[in-house]
Amino acid sequence: MPYCRNCGAELEDNDRFCAKCGSPADQAVSGAAQSSPSKKQKKPKNTGLIITIISLSLVLVSVLAVAGVYIVQNTDLIPSGNYSSKKDRDDDDDKDDKDKDDDDDDDDDKKPVVIKPGSNSITVGISMPTKDLQRWNQDGDYLKKELEAYGYEVDLEYAANDVATQLSQVENMIDSGCDLLIIAAIEGSSLGEALDMAEQMNIPVIAYDRLLMENDTVDYYVTFDNYMVGTIQGQYIVDTLNLDNVSGSFTIEFTAGDPGDNNALFFYIGAMDVLNPYIDSGKLVCVSGQTDFSDVATASWKTENAQSRAETVLNAYYADGTNIDAWLCPNDSTALGVENALEYCYFGSYPIITGQDCDISNIKNMLAGKQSMSVFKDTRTLAQRVALMADQILQGQTVEVNDTETYDNGKKVVPAFLCEPTLVTSSNYIEILVDSGYYTEDQLTG
Ligand code: GAL
Repeated sequence: MPYCRNCGAELEDNDRFCAKCGSPADQAVSGAAQSSPSKKQKKPKNTGLIITIISLSLVLVSVLAVAGVYIVQNTDLIPSGNYSSKKDRDDDDDKDDKDKDDDDDDDDDKKPVVIKPGSNSITVGISMPTKDLQRWNQDGDYLKKELEAYGYEVDLEYAANDVATQLSQVENMIDSGCDLLIIAAIEGSSLGEALDMAEQMNIPVIAYDRLLMENDTVDYYVTFDNYMVGTIQGQYIVDTLNLDNVSGSFTIEFTAGDPGDNNALFFYIGAMDVLNPYIDSGKLVCVSGQTDFSDVATASWKTENAQSRAETVLNAYYADGTNIDAWLCPNDSTALGVENALEYCYFGSYPIITGQDCDISNIKNMLAGKQSMSVFKDTRTLAQRVALMADQILQGQTVEVNDTETYDNGKKVVPAFLCEPTLVTSSNYIEILVDSGYYTEDQLTG
């Protein structure tokens, strides 16, 4: 039985027009092709459903496509290949990322290594305090060479002992897209803004020789055992004066380092832990009475500052001919100041003077009998260790440390690698400084 194609009414075989709607019967279809008008009415609904499904599919595909593009774009910022997230590096054993992300105390977990988008090279920024002291020049040179040998680009800056300059230099390094920072701070607590920036950019930070204070952004610390430096100096005085075996008492004065440098306190405490028992027993007498760190500290480690305080002490307490048997100095620049002061304002027998760094002028003074010892901190060793650590961080390897307890910067205990310092005197300087290729003999005697 045919049906009207227009309204679906039943037609007779010989109808020329539909009796219901008047449409020509040639618009009629057979029952096989058109089962019922109601179905015919549903046809637009089915079409809508299909269109809806297609539309939803398109939307879904678009969403997935956009998400895919986002992920692909962001892989530029995600370590790939040898690079892995800090979370992975710092705690391979801990598979529970959620727990780690929730752990506010361990911000290392939140920092992936960042590779500059669109760049194959990796740049390490090195911020050194000053060129004024010989050692920092050597530190910078060795460190640059070591890092370049690993294939990294190096941006090495010196801050002329000016905190604001160091701050802006580090900020510039971050702005220029450096991938890792190595900082020897002028003042440990003054780089907070730059460190916060580094944290936002997920740039790992290694504190070099001096600890970065009051900030939890600092990831690692590489230094010499600073407390041990102090004990070597203190023990040298005890041994040389033979305090355990001779009777009588000896006079001593103290100079300490820069209060803005965390190392200075470690050196002083190390030395005083050795010397205090002798002060308490009266074997050592500090004639000026100045033994508090704050009284004997030397701003900026400057030779002239150490010299001016030493002159004041000498004029006030030793002008009457009192002898000084020992003067504890934390490093070579301050020792030089005390040596200058002794030359101008002191006429007694020459005291034991300690130092640290084995700067050339101080080794020369040592050979001339004006300085008794220095503590050698081989900057080649330090540079090698820091470069290795930087490489371990950047390559996503386990980072080697040997101290996880000592260096609390006020916000966190910074995992550290401590190198061992060496006592140098006129008896062993050839072996330690010349034979090892650190200096030529000409540099020390010329
Ligand atoms: C300290 C460093 C010493 C000495 C001093 C003066 O932080 O550990 O070796 O060089 O600064 O620059």
